[in-house]
Amino acid sequence: RRHLLLGGAVGLTAAGAAAAAVASRPEDHDAPTPPEALFGDDRVPFHGTHQAGVATPPPAHVAFVALDLLAQTDATALARLMRILTDDAVRLTQGRGALADTEPELATSPARLTVTFGFGPGFVERAGAAASPSWLRPLPAFGIDRLEDRWSGGDLLLQVCADDPLTVAHAVRMLLKDSRTFTSLRWSQRGFRRAHGTEPATATVRNLFGQVDGTVNPAPGTDDFERLVWSHGQVPWLEGGTSLVLRRIAMDLDRWDLVDRAGRESAVGRRLDTGAPLTGVAEHDEPDFDAKTPAGFPVIADYSHLRRARSDDPGQKILRRAYNYDDEPGTDDGVSRSGLLFAAYQADVDAQFVPIQRRLDELDLLNEWTTPIGSAVFAIPPGCQADGFVGDTLLA
Ligand code: HEM
Repeated sequence: RRHLLLGGAVGLTAAGAAAAAVASRPEDHDAPTPPEALFGDDRVPFHGTHQAGVATPPPAHVAFVALDLLAQTDATALARLMRILTDDAVRLTQGRGALADTEPELATSPARLTVTFGFGPGFVERAGAAASPSWLRPLPAFGIDRLEDRWSGGDLLLQVCADDPLTVAHAVRMLLKDSRTFTSLRWSQRGFRRAHGTEPATATVRNLFGQVDGTVNPAPGTDDFERLVWSHGQVPWLEGGTSLVLRRIAMDLDRWDLVDRAGRESAVGRRLDTGAPLTGVAEHDEPDFDAKTPAGFPVIADYSHLRRARSDDPGQKILRRAYNYDDEPGTDDGVSRSGLLFAAYQADVDAQFVPIQRRLDELDLLNEWTTPIGSAVFAIPPGCQADGFVGDTLLA
């Protein structure tokens, strides 16, 4: 009707008026509206060889929550706890309320929710494990570290990721309710990436320095990923699992502001606009570390993060799956409290993460603006089948 009125008002041609009349036939209004495809309905399978949340493309939001075991929580109680947690994680990730959910409506949009469990040294010891991976302990101390207890350590990790912050909040609350009689909260850290749909799913995200961050990473499904990330032939209960090193790294955005664009690019060795190495034009171009400026200096500086983080050893690589954090600015100074929840997954922390971090500790211009303030190491056990629970290879 609106079309016809408009047609009359602007003198629509006969053909145009006829087309407008067809478009507004009454029966069209009765046609069922096709269901809207909603990101909220997207589900990630829970069961499998590996836990979800490692090879899974990172959704927009994360909560990392570390729990400490209460004194009375023995190995039998740990198995009970992991059964309860697994059961609720299955339900929530598949869009159903937790067993004792008081707000089950909040569970109906999982939005790619994943729940990943990690075991700290204290958990494995309490489980009475016959063997523990040699790397499952706090990282060695680094000169750049300014670690705070309130962001470090922990016996049991819950990593909860989803594209929707309400989904994350609800899942965390349900899992904490399950854990309360077995554990106490040690710390909780929330992070974010771009909201789902803001950029193409294939785009590499940016951190709060504005850098394209995550370009060089093993790709899920490749032989490299299989070898570098999943644990093979270490301790039997970890077969098919991995490790997580979580570093909370403060980024001094206000001091970064004082650096010009050329200085910022040389600190990393990559361009800010495209993420290309300073010797290339496209993000995924191979850097040329031998290229020299007319004055004879390396185009990619020896002190750059790219040069220092890279190793010629094909085994010395990690999977980076970082999230940004942005706490309230200080009311005293109005300065941002921002940084990175730097999450790295690798088969062997000592062989892969530690040598890279050691090199960066010795020299990396980025250290001028970044400070590690939290650190924790967890074994991420393998996934489980529908009749099992996460951790059953250790506790059953
Ligand atoms: C690469 C930023 C901390 C290891 C990069 C790149 C950026 C970046 C922009 C280049 C693009 C890319 O490949 O992703 C940062 C920032 C950090 C930080 C802002 C701290 C706030 C770390 C730490 C480690 C690390 C703690 C490991 C201990 C790597 C590795 C690469 C890399 C392995 C790839 C190097 C290669 O091209 O082979 N980082 N990073 N980064 N970073 Fe970091």
